[in-house]
Amino acid sequence: MKINSLYLLFATIVAIGLGSCDKRTQGTTENEYRHQIDSLMALMTLEEKIGQMTLFTTDWGSTGPTIREGYQDDIRAGRCGALFNSHTVEFTRQLQEIAVNESRLGIPLIFGYDVIHGYKTIFPIPLAESCSWDLDMMEQTASIAAREAAAAGLHWTFAPMCDMSREPRWGRVMEGAGEDTWLGSEIARARVRGFQGDGFNNADRVMACVKHFAAYGDPVAGREYNTVDMSERFFREYYLPPYLAAIDEGAMTVMTSFNDLDAIPATGNQWLLEDVLREEGGFNGFIVTDYTCINEMVEHGYATDETHAGELAANAGVDMDMQGAVYHRFLKESVESGKVPMSTIDAAVHRILWAKFKLGLFDDPFRYCNADREKAVVFSQAHQEIARDMARKSIVLLKNENQTLPLINGKRIALVGPLAADKVNLIGAWSGAGEGDKCVSVLEGLEQQAATKNFTVLYAKGCDFNGSDRSGFSNAVQVARNSDVIVAVVGESKDLSGEATSRVDINLPGVQQEFLEVLKATGKPLVVVLMNGRPLTIPWMAENADAILETWWLGTQAGNAIADVLTGEYNPSAKLTMTFPRHVGQVPIYYNHKNTGRPFDPNSKWTSHYVDMPNTPLYPFGFGLSYTTFSYDSLSVSAPEFGMKDTLTAQVTVTNSGTRSGEEIVQWYVRDLVGSVTRPVKELKGFDKISLAPGESKTLKFKITSSDLSFYRADMTFGPEPGAFWVMVGPDSERLQRKEVRLME
Ligand code: NOJ
Repeated sequence: MKINSLYLLFATIVAIGLGSCDKRTQGTTENEYRHQIDSLMALMTLEEKIGQMTLFTTDWGSTGPTIREGYQDDIRAGRCGALFNSHTVEFTRQLQEIAVNESRLGIPLIFGYDVIHGYKTIFPIPLAESCSWDLDMMEQTASIAAREAAAAGLHWTFAPMCDMSREPRWGRVMEGAGEDTWLGSEIARARVRGFQGDGFNNADRVMACVKHFAAYGDPVAGREYNTVDMSERFFREYYLPPYLAAIDEGAMTVMTSFNDLDAIPATGNQWLLEDVLREEGGFNGFIVTDYTCINEMVEHGYATDETHAGELAANAGVDMDMQGAVYHRFLKESVESGKVPMSTIDAAVHRILWAKFKLGLFDDPFRYCNADREKAVVFSQAHQEIARDMARKSIVLLKNENQTLPLINGKRIALVGPLAADKVNLIGAWSGAGEGDKCVSVLEGLEQQAATKNFTVLYAKGCDFNGSDRSGFSNAVQVARNSDVIVAVVGESKDLSGEATSRVDINLPGVQQEFLEVLKATGKPLVVVLMNGRPLTIPWMAENADAILETWWLGTQAGNAIADVLTGEYNPSAKLTMTFPRHVGQVPIYYNHKNTGRPFDPNSKWTSHYVDMPNTPLYPFGFGLSYTTFSYDSLSVSAPEFGMKDTLTAQVTVTNSGTRSGEEIVQWYVRDLVGSVTRPVKELKGFDKISLAPGESKTLKFKITSSDLSFYRADMTFGPEPGAFWVMVGPDSERLQRKEVRLME
């Protein structure tokens, strides 16, 4: 390998600065980094500095509207510091060699990629994983995703997405953690821990990127890329905490969002990036835009042209331009004309180089390029086992009349529907380098268990996701008639959720609803297995199916995991993290709403309601069944009152009142009854996930302090207010028992 002379000079400076090469990534202090970065920056031209602020996609994949050509020449010229959509050891090594050997300073590249729920081993979509409420497992799957990505030459994932959302019309809810801020914050932390671990000493972790900053999850009318308009109070209380939790956990990078917020595009929003993110949030990593966000400030009507847009972004604190080439083309001129201070450029470059040091790329630019490791780690058998377990833990049992599930040995199963034998769609949207044909289909999963369980599986597709073709109905009906039970696998195709997939109608697409009705008419028990990336409106199913499994998109091991639940090998335990509406007209619908001045009263017309549908959801936040049952004894509290510095303990005993072992997610909520501003009717503040054998009981204690009861008060200070509160506990956000307590001055 030829390393150019300036790189050698710089490497020598680094080595002298550090004393020992071995300690470079492990024991290096921030001061030492600063010294090395300053030494390097002293060698750099303005163009080379702007090059570090430039991120281009390669031509391997498209995750946005345009592909620029000529990125290799840009690398050679030192005019590109990072790349995305390029992976595998072979390809990243090729490109890194250009950077290190052919550019003047030989500064290594960072390789980024959307490793959202797995690199090649694909785990359930993040919304599905969130339904497991299993933070350790979510950390573990993120760490495996990082391990595989790092083994394939990557340094950086564009995850976790920390956008809370109450908007099922918005296709990107599949990538988030659902609707709850508190749970979303815990999940954001777990994912950052998983991706970044304890650091990069073993080159088996990747930098996390907290996205999309900020409030991208609330586009007006659920339409992708639309305006976001909310009060600062609501922003701070509802949207901001998960991003800040991820940053507090050490996330090294943040991505700006496409939307405007209070009429200022996020990418040019100094208040958001400097005041909120850096000063209040203490973020000291680098900020990258989303795909061409800087350019889009012209369309937003916020910048006169791209030069102006670049100035707005740089001055707002954006360090790296993703794919828009605005910095690349215009930033030098803006610095020379004094519109962007040189100190702003230096600060940005310093942050980016700091990340490259942390990754150890100055020690060895190829430390993530080990082909043997790639072969051993990516899609390993051990990862498949964890993928299967995570997938089982993400399945929500929404209905189970007359114990239709689990399926009893000896049954003839009619397995029907567009997703019954499908593999390609199981990986879901944003599935990295995942290969659909490596997934286990439901048909394969059930067939693998058929012999030991003495099942017969009869398959018929019946219909497609989309279109109006009903020609397969009759065959499927025939198969159903010859069976004891129907398992219909229906839902969305994977390209119907994800980016740029907003829907106004969140029913089952195509003729699938009609297909279910035809199946129902056979009189056979009907089990529906749903696959989808967002809550769907399924009132007919809720009424007419005998059992419903919400399986989302479960990834590589989907079929095995679904078979495990259908056959009772695994007892489902997941609970919804997004409310299921009855009708799209109820959206946004969420559990932690305000009471209003006229809460619904069935005896009064003049209260808050719809005339054609109940206010309540079809399935509430936190809902999910098990093959066993759990009973809750009476909630008690340690005292009726507690002080600002005290801890109150609430306690409940939960018993497995059924006949099989199972896991229960016990949920703790609070309500502030009167405040200087109105407060939600309930807010999740904690949960316990417990495992109980039949007849077994566990007593759970929930500790509450005044900080759990804090919020943005009328004067926008954050803190608690004395007064009456309810402490609530239950199996979901609706079936709650409560005790009133008083927080004293
Ligand atoms: C656009 C998406 O909004 C973002 O989440 C993703 O990371 C980038 N494209 C890069 O693919």
